[in-house]
Amino acid sequence: MTRKVFTKLLGLFVLLLVFQTVAMELILRHFVEHTPAETLHRLDREALWSGLLALAVALPLAAWAAGGVTARLQRVVDFARHIAQGDLSARLSPQGGDELSAMEAALNQTAERLDSNFAEIESRRHELATMLDSMQEAVVAVTSEGQVRWSNAVMQRIAGTEIRAGRPLVHSVRDPELLACVRGAIESREVRFGRSNSLAPGRTFEINAAPLPSGGALAVLHDVTRIEAAEKSRREFIANVSHELRTPLTSIQGYVETLIEDPKPRPGTTREFLGIIQKNVSRMSRLTEDLLALAGVESPDYKLAAQPMRASALVQDAIESLGGIVVDSGVELESAGAPDTCVIADADAMNQVFGNLVENAVKYGSSGKRIEVGAKPVAEGIEFWVRDFGPGIASEHLERIFERFYRVDKARSRESGGTGLGLAIVKHIVQVHGGRIWVESELGAGANFHFTLPLAPPVSRPEASQPAKTEA
Ligand SMILES: Nc1ncnc2c1ncn2[C@@H]1O[C@H](COP(=O)(O)OP(=O)(O)OP(=O)(O)O)[C@@H](O)[C@H]1O
Ligand SMILES: [Mg+2]
Repeated sequence: MTRKVFTKLLGLFVLLLVFQTVAMELILRHFVEHTPAETLHRLDREALWSGLLALAVALPLAAWAAGGVTARLQRVVDFARHIAQGDLSARLSPQGGDELSAMEAALNQTAERLDSNFAEIESRRHELATMLDSMQEAVVAVTSEGQVRWSNAVMQRIAGTEIRAGRPLVHSVRDPELLACVRGAIESREVRFGRSNSLAPGRTFEINAAPLPSGGALAVLHDVTRIEAAEKSRREFIANVSHELRTPLTSIQGYVETLIEDPKPRPGTTREFLGIIQKNVSRMSRLTEDLLALAGVESPDYKLAAQPMRASALVQDAIESLGGIVVDSGVELESAGAPDTCVIADADAMNQVFGNLVENAVKYGSSGKRIEVGAKPVAEGIEFWVRDFGPGIASEHLERIFERFYRVDKARSRESGGTGLGLAIVKHIVQVHGGRIWVESELGAGANFHFTLPLAPPVSRPEASQPAKTEA
């Protein structure tokens, strides 16, 4: 290309020279006809020599000038090649004020603009990818042929495999519900909703697949596992409360109707029925109290009046205040020792915790004749325990025993007035204190309920009085 230009320029130059020579020849011929022969002969020779001299000087000069242009054009070609290969940092260095340097400056400007536009597109793409990756939802975009365009990090995590762009979505995700939603959105050009339980074990996702303007579809997966679990637990709770209230209410209604309809009730029977009614009423009132207590400790507004308290004092208080409960049951309530270390605790809440645990030990473990309350230092703070030596709890119940309304032996628990909320309340109180609770038990070997409380921060003592420094 550049060689061609060079040849053309050279040709042009030679042509101009020929024209000039012909013109000169015509002028000279006219001059020759009117000039003496000798003078002409001399002039002829001089003209020939000067023409040859001019040609000898002009030719290298033309070659030099054309060579400079060729080199500059070659640089432009190299520059274009760099740009085509994606190297947008390439630049030309325009020299002089000719048309070629103006073109070089314009090309530089274009390259600069391209470079900054590409940089901006790249930074926006990066920003979008970061935003998509930080989303809670899983997102995947597919082409109208069902091939993955891109997917975010959550989607890859849920799929449990790398979802490669360009490959069919079905190769990475087998979930029929997600695939059906995506296919439906692509074909109908309408938003499709779905719900999947098989995408990841134990998790439920709400799927929302929308058609993309350029064809294909965008699917967003929202994890609703927690919402579903909370909803299930709420439904179960309402069913349990209704059931717990219905049982005593049905009994009260039956006995009241019998008393009303009996024209001549026997005093003994009336008394017996009223006794049963009273028992059911107090059961309902206990249930209501427990429900209120549970709602209180579960509420985000529940505030502890927590303060530093000695572990030994907490154990001693529990034994003294609960002594009355054990008197009639013939069980010994004793301390297994406790350190004087201070924990952070709310005194009233702790009464509730020890009250529930000791009451349970009396209700369900009194056959062991002994209940032990103690505390010891552990890594997390202080570990407290309430232990009985009764029949214990079978291992299959240990996991669920702190759930609301969970009772090992429903009939027996109900008989003893239990609502199944005591341990749920205790668990919440301990957790709000920043501790944890668990139970160890074996059938026939009693039950041992443990919970931990965090240590109170060390009290900073006032600096010991230093001898006054005397300035020299
Ligand atoms: N020390 C224990 N020994 C054996 N079983 C126990 C013991 N403590 C609790 N349980 C079992 O755990 C169940 C749940 O106890 P929880 O204190 O939550 O309810 P409850 O005692 O039945 O009723 P509430 O405490 O609300 O009056 C009890 O019904 C009982 O079956
Ligand atoms: Mg209880």
